[in-house]
Amino acid sequence: MTQIFAHRGYSASFAENTMGSFVGAGKAGADGLELDVQLTKDGELVVIHDEKVDRTTSGTGFVKDFLYKELRKLNANKKGLKKEPIPALAEVFEWLKTNKLMCNIELKNGLIPYEGMEDKVIQLVQKHGLMDRIIISSFNHYSIVYCYRIAPEIETAPLFIEGIYMPWIYSQSIKAKGIHPKHSAVSDKIIKNTMENGIAVRPYTVNKDEDMLRLFNINCTALITDDPVKALRLRKQFEKRP
Ligand code: G3P
Ligand code: CA
Repeated sequence: MTQIFAHRGYSASFAENTMGSFVGAGKAGADGLELDVQLTKDGELVVIHDEKVDRTTSGTGFVKDFLYKELRKLNANKKGLKKEPIPALAEVFEWLKTNKLMCNIELKNGLIPYEGMEDKVIQLVQKHGLMDRIIISSFNHYSIVYCYRIAPEIETAPLFIEGIYMPWIYSQSIKAKGIHPKHSAVSDKIIKNTMENGIAVRPYTVNKDEDMLRLFNINCTALITDDPVKALRLRKQFEKRP
């Protein structure tokens, strides 16, 4: 059965990458979460998609220029009624210990090469004993190879925006157990071949009914969606089909 990962949490209904969005995804019954991490000036891992705080919070400027305690004063739920801070990754991990959700951490170190980010993430995962519930992904493939080298027990998955030739060969060569391609960049055949070669496939960001159904139909490992409620409803209908 295709697992459902909530992209930036249940971001179709809650402010993205907030605790409200993650708790909402958990309550909805998602199998996992996807979230993005950046690093503050004083080296705290924080959960926010963009390098700058402008789009999603009440503040302006680069995450890397904020001290953690200053960043925490910003509101990451600008459109909502209740103020929400940008979560620390540690805070998400504390909450993950209260449930069984999988968690895909995307290292956002493609534009800003945050020094030491991988080591910090790995240490935190190990400290919380979450090694078998975490998947580390990134568009920065050097970074996920480094993660594998320092913690081979934690699953890694390169992100792709374009189709690549025989992705299972590439994944095996970098010891990644999965790939996270843009959903429109992978055909059914490529997904099936990749899975038959022992590599998990979790396409992103799958929000349309027809795209979800296509992946359920080939029993794709997982899909990453903004709307886990819709995906769960469709999956239930799909599983009940005669
Ligand atoms: O992890 C898949 C997806 O989140 C990658 O793109 O820009 O939404 O982080 P983006
Ligand atoms: Ca992401």
